[in-house]
Amino acid sequence: MDTVAPPAAEAVFKLAGVRYVYNGRQVALDGIDLEIRAGEQVALLGANGTGKSTLLKMLDGIIGPSEGSMQALGADVRLVTAGDEAFRFHREVGLVFQDPDVQLFSPTVLDDVAFGPLQLGLSPEEVKRCCDEALDQMGIAHLADRAPFELSGGEKKRVAIASVLSLGPRVILLDEPTASLDPRTKWVLVNLIRMLGQSGRTIVTATHELDIVPVIADRVVVIGENRRVVADGRPSEVLANRELLIEANLIHEHLHQHGGLAHTHEHEHDGTHAHAHAAASGEVRTFRDPGP
Ligand SMILES: Nc1ncnc2c1ncn2[C@@H]1O[C@H](COP(=O)(O)OP(=O)(O)OP(=O)(O)O)[C@@H](O)[C@H]1O
Ligand SMILES: [Mg+2]
Repeated sequence: MDTVAPPAAEAVFKLAGVRYVYNGRQVALDGIDLEIRAGEQVALLGANGTGKSTLLKMLDGIIGPSEGSMQALGADVRLVTAGDEAFRFHREVGLVFQDPDVQLFSPTVLDDVAFGPLQLGLSPEEVKRCCDEALDQMGIAHLADRAPFELSGGEKKRVAIASVLSLGPRVILLDEPTASLDPRTKWVLVNLIRMLGQSGRTIVTATHELDIVPVIADRVVVIGENRRVVADGRPSEVLANRELLIEANLIHEHLHQHGGLAHTHEHEHDGTHAHAHAAASGEVRTFRDPGP
């Protein structure tokens, strides 16, 4: 996956000097310059509160820049997300929200997954085909008749993703898609994201989970605590830059103990790590613990 998209591909999003300020005072993005081209698979990394969700909402046309300019699908975002054009835009660009409760509002899972295709005015057969495929891809066909609000967090997450997949968007924006999923579901989903990318879709995934990045992305964009892009490159380059990752608060150093051995070293943001230490006997042991 460590390849870059051909330079000739069309720009799907082009942001220049974009700022976003909530309620006139809470700065969420502070000068974002970013171009994303068709067919790229981008991982968006950043510590809590650096503006990842805000940026994805902006790419989905839900909010517009407070300052700066943004083009989406080849035109000014204000034009493509207004009036009749908005329909085409939302068919082509789909966002899976960080919080599935924001996305799910229907009495049953099937209703939620069918909502988009029904809005598009597809025939009942086409709606069924889109839904079956999306439910199948997420492994949740057995949940079709359940009420979304009764599901577990991980199940809701999968329904939220299915409700976007059923529209078959060309551009998929995923906000922490693997958060709160069990390991098997997480890796099934990671594989699915990879396959969607290989089928030519443009995918932008906000995540803290560094282990999934090389699988789902061919490009990594890091947003720093200054709420600007502080790194943009191939996963192998960006993930090898420990200093940058510590500075961006994606891994951290702290003091802790394993079996009487106090030391400092780096952790990934999810707080888990495994590594080897020489014990007093000289024997090397590997520790795996939940971090702080
Ligand atoms: N609705 C809102 N009203 C006011 N401020 C907000 C709102 N939503 C987010 N913010 C602020 O904007 C900044 C960016 O938030 P955002 O949710 O985009 O960050 P994030 O990178 O997605 O964080 P996380 O990793 O915790 O999901 C934060 O300082 C946050 O407090
Ligand atoms: Mg977020």
